[in-house]
Amino acid sequence: MKPVGVIGIGRYLPDHVMTNHDIQAMGLDTSDEWIRERTGIEERRIAAVGQATSDLAYHASVQALESAGITADDLDLIIVATSTPDYFLFPSTACIVQHRLGCTRPIPAFDMSAACTGFNYALSAGAQYVASGAAKKVLVVAADLLSKFLDWTDRSTCILFGDGAGAVVLGEVDPGLGIIASDLFSRGELAEILYAKEGGSRNPISMDNPTRPLVSMEGRAVFKVAVNTVVPAVESVLAANQIAVSDVKLLVFHQANLRIIDAACERLGFTPDQVVITLPKYGNTSASSIPIALCEAVSEGRLSRGDLVVLVGFGAGFTWGVTLLRWSC
Ligand SMILES: CC(C)(COP(=O)(O)OP(=O)(O)OC[C@H]1O[C@@H](n2cnc3c(N)ncnc32)[C@H](O)[C@@H]1OP(=O)(O)O)[C@@H](O)C(=O)NCCC(=O)NCCS
Repeated sequence: MKPVGVIGIGRYLPDHVMTNHDIQAMGLDTSDEWIRERTGIEERRIAAVGQATSDLAYHASVQALESAGITADDLDLIIVATSTPDYFLFPSTACIVQHRLGCTRPIPAFDMSAACTGFNYALSAGAQYVASGAAKKVLVVAADLLSKFLDWTDRSTCILFGDGAGAVVLGEVDPGLGIIASDLFSRGELAEILYAKEGGSRNPISMDNPTRPLVSMEGRAVFKVAVNTVVPAVESVLAANQIAVSDVKLLVFHQANLRIIDAACERLGFTPDQVVITLPKYGNTSASSIPIALCEAVSEGRLSRGDLVVLVGFGAGFTWGVTLLRWSC
């Protein structure tokens, strides 16, 4: 198996900033103080009316390709992790991205659905192609545009999410660098603590059911399950690879709630200088939150070649995943 790692990275956030004050001004019974205290979020980015998920994914991908020093025609595979595809049936958002990037080769392109754990899942899948030799360069994009699927009258969900995209290019790297472990999990019996009830084949939109898919969540349950699942998963991947918490340069958590990150870090023993936080600016951007945070850490000079990084995802499904890697850019 070939060593596989990140050889390029990019991110994209829509221009429009929606603050907590803006949400309150929409008539919701909430406050900036409540949202900051309970979540850590101060503002989030909201996509323009005409923007679709592939548009966000495209911009992040262009940056990732540039940073890898390759063109779209050097890619052998595109995977898009998203829960908010451009089209609910087909085609996949990955096919739209392939076209927008100007890829002239008919390479495979597909979407992956693992909600906020989507980046960990897609990274793992993409890495297998490179490790086996089936592909040389794989574009893994995580993009979500949840603002169009929020109930803007539900103060317990709409305050949490924002739109965004992050992308990486995977390729063969020097021995000793790249992805060391990718542990992925699911517990389907918890599906309904975070889901969109309407609009799929279970409850299709019809003349009798003129609704649309909107995020519905049992916030407290999600909070508890998140902390109780990711903590042992991180402990186990570190133990299996004989890595101490102090050896890890950066811990990139899915950005869902600052209190979740704080609780998990306290139990695991990570210090604040090891943790990347983008929640105040962007809120929860679902699958894209990890690559966006990783990209920000890289642009701030917080990572050097060879540094150990832990990526921790969790979300609807219920799914969770931990990726351990040695930075290879
Ligand atoms: C949603 C979340 C912020 C709610 O915070 P909480 O501290 O658990 O608050 P609770 O749900 O217990 O609600 C406490 C009170 O605040 C109220 N409340 C909820 N949202 C509010 C808001 N935006 N503004 C003001 N009050 C709010 C509730 O209605 C409740 O009022 P009540 O006591 O009169 O019934 C929190 O549970 C959370 O972040 N959970 C994880 C969600 C998540 O990460 N989802 C994505 C996973 S990928």
